[in-house]
Amino acid sequence: MPTANHQADYAEIYSRSLRDPQGFWREQARQIPWIAEPQTVLDQDDNGVWRWFADGMLNSCFVALDQHVAHGRGDQTALIYDSPVTNTVEHFTYSQLLEKTATIAGGLVELGVTKGDVVIIYMPMVPETAAAMLACARIGAIHSVVFGGFAPKELAMRIDDASPKVVLAASCGIEVDRVIAYQPLLNEAIDLAEHKPEHVVMLQREQCEAALQAPRDIDWFAWERAASPADCVPVKATDPLYVLYTSGTTGKPKGIVRDNGGHAVALNYSMSAVYGVQTGDVYWAASDVGWVVGHSYIVYGPLFAGCTTILYEGKPVKTPDAGAFWRVLAEHRVKSFFVAPTAFRAMRKEDPSCELLSQYDISSLQYQFVAGERLDPPTYHWLKEHLDVPVIDHWWQTETGWSICANMAGIELLESKAGSCTLPAPGWDLRVLDADGKELGPNQEGAIVIKAPLPPSAFPTVWRDHQRYEDSYWSDYPGFYLTGDGGYRDEDGYVFVMGRTDDVINVAGHRLSTGRIEEVVAEHPAVAECAVVGIADAEKGQVPVGLVLMKDGITQDFDALQDELVQAVRGAVGPIANFKRAIVVPRLPKTRSGKILRQVIRKMIDGEPYTVPSTIDDPAIVDELLETLTAQGWMQ
Ligand code: COA
Ligand code: AMP
Repeated sequence: MPTANHQADYAEIYSRSLRDPQGFWREQARQIPWIAEPQTVLDQDDNGVWRWFADGMLNSCFVALDQHVAHGRGDQTALIYDSPVTNTVEHFTYSQLLEKTATIAGGLVELGVTKGDVVIIYMPMVPETAAAMLACARIGAIHSVVFGGFAPKELAMRIDDASPKVVLAASCGIEVDRVIAYQPLLNEAIDLAEHKPEHVVMLQREQCEAALQAPRDIDWFAWERAASPADCVPVKATDPLYVLYTSGTTGKPKGIVRDNGGHAVALNYSMSAVYGVQTGDVYWAASDVGWVVGHSYIVYGPLFAGCTTILYEGKPVKTPDAGAFWRVLAEHRVKSFFVAPTAFRAMRKEDPSCELLSQYDISSLQYQFVAGERLDPPTYHWLKEHLDVPVIDHWWQTETGWSICANMAGIELLESKAGSCTLPAPGWDLRVLDADGKELGPNQEGAIVIKAPLPPSAFPTVWRDHQRYEDSYWSDYPGFYLTGDGGYRDEDGYVFVMGRTDDVINVAGHRLSTGRIEEVVAEHPAVAECAVVGIADAEKGQVPVGLVLMKDGITQDFDALQDELVQAVRGAVGPIANFKRAIVVPRLPKTRSGKILRQVIRKMIDGEPYTVPSTIDDPAIVDELLETLTAQGWMQ
């Protein structure tokens, strides 16, 4: 149903993208500057994976910065650093951001970092973080940003898997009014890791000074002052730009690899097609650079497209109040805004009638985008009630780097439906399959998969573990990418993503593995066995809870045990796990092959209908569990 915003025909563009993917993406590729334009648009690599623009050469930093300066847009604001936690608002023009980036790139070269080396970035939301990412891209190094809310053990796993030559870090992050010193966390992680980076370059923030250990640690500002700018190094379209770790079903995070060429083409395309913005527009994604949203839509996407991006170091509430987002939208005249629903739930809790909005003029806003988790209908309706712009739910993943489904604001704005992320974006051949691989009809829920080839920007492998790529994503339904999400399409083809079908949970827009939390809980000396499931939570979407079987003969006080488990998860995974509750149960329901029935447990606690599979070992355990949970007031 086209609206007044109708600019082109979504159906025609979408069907062309599947009919003639090469022609479609060749045209999009012409919109970015190449060092050597690709002649081959789509090809299979040695692993049989479809790759885009294999013989093209480019530099992602050039696409993000140099091209705009070369085209006379050097004085346009590239990045606004808005930090209520430090009372700072700072503007960087494209020329200034380029100069800073080139200097940091030069500093990295002087430390011996060359094309193909990995650099870990463990930094908060400060402008140097974005410049550091772009600096790596400039010299062909591969960055791997680690989110500040992870504990040292998680950082250590990433250091070991990525083997960085250098770590770029900051002395602290600021959580509302708490200063979180990063250096002790980083030092502990390096101690735990087998791989030792040669250098740590430390950005000293005035809120907390880190004690540097020479010769390994280097002061950032002295290093930056002494460095000479470095030029862009040409890389192949298929060379990796970054590795970003995300949670899978096992405790070990997966290093999602993003290449340079497909990423630049798809993200540049998405800025106009999905988000409806053009060069010179102000675009804001209120996320963190530690997540894929931050990579794609705080740093690369808006800069590729010549927009002004905002790097916001604050929260939706408490910095200073639930009007914080409205203030930023008004002050910087944002046109297109992207945030996770959990942030709006936090705002709604503090300002249910959205009264603070009346203090701000957000008339520049044209589109409100949400993603990162399901947009629950109450939040959708709250937004519809208070915002005078389309509210667009779009669905994507670290693995894809941009939307699989969206209401494509820049093509043709369709009617929205609460709970739906609308229709597949161009290039995504989406199907809903049953367990046997049979395609399901309207309103039938199944596994959401995408038929190969995936469009540009989708990941070509898991870092140093291609077998895991094949096993986790391509083995269930050969020829189809398993998204890990379940859902259905309605009679109009609208896609409804209902949640993960695996053991991944989504806590406040943060993707976490229940398997990883289970590993930590199971290490406690009193615990014989455990299951961690994500249960519904009004604010965070989901929170993890632990069902614990105590070892025989242990009589530990339950409150003390719960406290110890909470501290253990906080210490090993990090505060963002939001693990706060556990319960002791007599037995756990399992299949005959020993697999814990986590979905049954979750549905039971959430009060949803559940089906006990015929493969269950002992059906009586389900009734026993229901009784225990009910007796202890756990049922939602
Ligand atoms: N560094 C250190 N600690 C951090 C952190 C960071 N970068 N981010 C969060 N934490 C801590 C918090 O301080 C909190 O600690 P506490 O238990 O001591 O209070 C804990 O981790 C839980 O954090 P969170 O669940 O994020 O709650 P919050 O109240 O700090 O923030 C939101 C609430 C809604 C603002 C936040 O969850 C958010 O922005 N989520 C959206 C995430 C997103 O953008 N995802 C991208 C979509 S893919
Ligand atoms: P991440 O890789 O951290 O971006 O998390 C991706 C996961 O978040 C997806 O697999 C979904 O489970 C969930 N997700 C992201 N966006 C949406 C959305 N719009 N609707 C429903 N789930 C979403």
